Amino acid sequence: MINRARLKELHKKEEERFLSRTPKSAERFAAASEVMPGGVPMSWMAKWPGKYPLFVATANGAHFTDVDGNEYIDLCLGDTGSMTGHSPAATVAAIKGQVERGMTAMLPTADAVAVSSELARRFGLPLWQFTVSATDANRHAIRYSRLITGKSKIVVIDRCYHGSVDETFATLDSAGKTVAREGNIGAPVALDETTRVVEFNDLAGMEAALKAGDVAAILMEPAMTNVGIVMPEDGYLVAVGELAKKYGAVWIIDETHTISVGPGGMTKDLGLKPDMLTIGKAIGGGIPTGTFGMTREIAGEIAKRTNREVIDTGGIGGTLAGNALSLAAMRATLTEVLTESNFEKMIALGNRWCDGVDAAITEFSLPWYCNRLGARGEYLFQAKAAKTGREAAAAGDFELEQYIHLRLLNDGFLLTPFHNMALMSPDTTEADVDAHTKAFRQMCRELVG
Ligand SMILES: Cc1ncc(COP(=O)(O)O)c(C=O)c1O
Repeated sequence: MINRARLKELHKKEEERFLSRTPKSAERFAAASEVMPGGVPMSWMAKWPGKYPLFVATANGAHFTDVDGNEYIDLCLGDTGSMTGHSPAATVAAIKGQVERGMTAMLPTADAVAVSSELARRFGLPLWQFTVSATDANRHAIRYSRLITGKSKIVVIDRCYHGSVDETFATLDSAGKTVAREGNIGAPVALDETTRVVEFNDLAGMEAALKAGDVAAILMEPAMTNVGIVMPEDGYLVAVGELAKKYGAVWIIDETHTISVGPGGMTKDLGLKPDMLTIGKAIGGGIPTGTFGMTREIAGEIAKRTNREVIDTGGIGGTLAGNALSLAAMRATLTEVLTESNFEKMIALGNRWCDGVDAAITEFSLPWYCNRLGARGEYLFQAKAAKTGREAAAAGDFELEQYIHLRLLNDGFLLTPFHNMALMSPDTTEADVDAHTKAFRQMCRELVG
């Protein structure tokens, strides 16, 4: 479909365009390269398209401006960290208030009670603990699962992502054996010692992985969101929950991204009953935070096996976990920003964005498929929805993706760097979405032309 020689030419043009639009970012990057490996504060930031990342001057609502004064519609939104829109007013007011009253004291504040109650209402789990990131929430849920089951193995889905969690960077090789994922560095032990990997939507595979009776937990997203979007087949998730129960494994659902479907995520929408639930990113409105919820039974089992005297060396913690600032931010974000009515608006915009992408795909007969997940949309370079992470990964096209991201960036749109994903915030407007539709259509026209 796409002429590769032409794609190379188009990409070269965009690289030149990027350099000419962003001289101040280039200057900042040169200085940054003197003091940070790769010129970025965290290694994955080197993955942005273009010769260097943009340096941000200001971000507000669904928009940001770079140091050269270029304005962008932000469809990445901090890969869900700013799904609320940048600096939402209610969260900012709560943060400002808390900054004046102390940010971290290693003691609880009343906000912790309000936030836990709200999370319980949304996700149906009664008891909550707080961390500094979703990664930590997942690490802790895994550790507690091992403690209470006395089992060693974790089951994850092929091509999942749950943060920088050692056990999760596993994949299936061509013989169906669990091995480390490409790019995984410094693994403490071989991945098949800690982990068993199964395909999404594969119940027989899930049962086979659990059968030996040595699995402490299944950790999964209810829809895959980190290899493109892969939706669960009807009945799949409920059946996974039943298998977890049958084989005595803790079922942990990670709603960090899938909260895009509504205030209680897919857990609420589908009436799921996980044993534990993890989430981070958006619920802090931009302030680092994470949390994990659990049933009373799980909490009881943990309490039986932990000792207050040595609780600080149990491997669960974080000095700033549950800090006053993050709890104030979460309280305001949950009660005033990620509300039912804002979700309605965001989901309508998500559908509008996908409609625009679908129209261009049809008009130019591109063999692509656009998935919808509430306020989130994402296109895959194959003509139908993927059923497994492996299938979605095989539909990847690095060269094409690099071009699309750079082209749209130069046109004023930021997509999530790791895939072709767009997210809507309460501040995103129909005009923002329609501007993307127009630019996307024009790009597709040139791609096939
Ligand atoms: C589903 C899911 N869970 C957890 C995480 C980890 O979040 P964080 O990097 O904020 O710890 C991510 C990050 O992308 C994620 O996509």
